[in-house]
Amino acid sequence: MTEKDFIPKRYSKTLKNGRFIWAAPSNIALVKYWGKKAHQIPENPSVSFTLDYCKTTTSLSFSERENDQNFSFEVLLDGKVKDDFKPKIETFFKRIESYLPFLKDYHFKIETSNSFPHSSGIASSASGMSALALCLMSIEKAMYQTEMSSDYFNKKASFLARLGSGSACRSIEGDLIVWGAHQDIDDSSNLYGVTYPFEVHDNFKNYQDTILLVDKGEKQVSSTVGHNLMHNHPFANRRFEQAHEHMSELISIFKTGNLDAFIEIVEREALTLHAMMMTSLPYFILMKPNTLEIINKIWSFRSATNSKVCFTLDAGANVHVLYPKNESEAVMEFIKNELVVYCQNEHYISDQIGFGANQIQF
Ligand code: DP6
Repeated sequence: MTEKDFIPKRYSKTLKNGRFIWAAPSNIALVKYWGKKAHQIPENPSVSFTLDYCKTTTSLSFSERENDQNFSFEVLLDGKVKDDFKPKIETFFKRIESYLPFLKDYHFKIETSNSFPHSSGIASSASGMSALALCLMSIEKAMYQTEMSSDYFNKKASFLARLGSGSACRSIEGDLIVWGAHQDIDDSSNLYGVTYPFEVHDNFKNYQDTILLVDKGEKQVSSTVGHNLMHNHPFANRRFEQAHEHMSELISIFKTGNLDAFIEIVEREALTLHAMMMTSLPYFILMKPNTLEIINKIWSFRSATNSKVCFTLDAGANVHVLYPKNESEAVMEFIKNELVVYCQNEHYISDQIGFGANQIQF
């Protein structure tokens, strides 16, 4: 599919007003998206686990108004006006306007809340943008001239979410999502996420992700700025090739359930992401001393036991501790005894692999 396939031809009916609610999950990348071209096109393919507990619930109410030059919307987080979200949503609306021509015909009230604490250092852009994209798709579906297939609905929701925040396109479905064209994955696309199409070993079913909240502060460098620093980065091209190689290697790893090989790729991806940050110009470091303490403890625990626990990082100091379900008890014991001391106020979030967004009936 191309961008043109997402431009609607005509809507059969118009709606005066209405409301839709969606809950969309966060996701954690195994192969990282870091570096993008114009129009939110990724420099390399990525693959992620969709999460289950960490999610954003968004209610979108809309009422008809005179078409105007400007978008009209208000945003509330946990019932309180949140004007600092507006510029990001304004940019999102501008980027998606040609794919949703009704946007200026309505006033929108966007009411959103997260299952995780706002100041947890967990980015809500993936779950937030995907929840909003899904609400907008529900409006489009209600106005559509013909039946809309769920495949088209999900693809376009992912396509729109990508234009809000790249990683958000991996938050529509579950449990393993690929975004970005890759030679070995037939239907993969730079425009939207697709569910991983090949065999996945039982070792990866119910995978656990305990998120250790090392630093709950605002990031010093936004992802958008970080992505842009991959332009003219001395190691960029090799890094993008490496991501392609890792995607290829993961295909047989997912099939055979080889957890040692999985760990090697996942941890290398996390450290490569941060190595790219440390070697861009300007260079920056998002890990904190406690991030490194945790990584070292995980490595010691692994060499002292038979555990297949490993870590990954997103663009921040928090650590995602990943492990198979059958190790839950032992790893939670280890986390409580040895890792929570490195978390801010000993806070962590227990999550696991999930299966995508849900529409909430009200
Ligand atoms: C490190 O999706 O937040 O989490 O497209 O600029 O909104 P924008 O960036 P964003 O970048 C996420 C980067 C990452 C890796 C990943 O999720 O693949």
